[in-house]
Amino acid sequence: MTFRSAVMAAGIVWAAGVAFQAPGGVQAQQKTVWDGVYSEAQATRGATAYERDCASCHQADMGGDGFAPGLAGPEFAAAWEGLTVGDLLERIRISMPPSEPGSVTLAAKADILAHMLKLNRFPAGAAELAADVEATKQIKYTSAKP
Ligand code: HEC
Repeated sequence: MTFRSAVMAAGIVWAAGVAFQAPGGVQAQQKTVWDGVYSEAQATRGATAYERDCASCHQADMGGDGFAPGLAGPEFAAAWEGLTVGDLLERIRISMPPSEPGSVTLAAKADILAHMLKLNRFPAGAAELAADVEATKQIKYTSAKP
């Protein structure tokens, strides 16, 4: 199984669990990337970290270099549609940068992800994106504007 198909499979399991019922029988509303899930200050920090740790391959504008894929734009959006921000954070946590994933802290990776959300045109909000895979799995990644 490739990493991506594993992520996809996880996404299917996740999708099956979306229609959960909150106590009291009220359908809980799921948070999405449209809900202002990172702050402007965090994205600014993330831009600096991205420049240092990621841009050499993924390019400053996140367009990719032909080998490293783009991290913004329609292809990236299609690849992550319906998954979660936590899935994306986990992907970066375990595999990026490829030579030494442990060389960048999880906090810096959350900041970089905030910068990625910004370049993918999702709005900033008041709170920062948590450097926590499980917590950010509560945030759905979707291009569909509510
Ligand atoms: C040495 C070049 C290189 C560096 C540096 C690098 N990446 Fe990557 N990245 C790649 C390549 C190549 C792939 C595709 C193959 C793979 O998944 O390993 C990839 C894949 C990805 C993906 C999956 C994209 C998708 O469409 O699913 C994400 C997200 C990502 N990188 C984020 C990052 C972040 C964030 C950083 C900085 C912390 C980073 N990368 C640093 C080369 C790089």
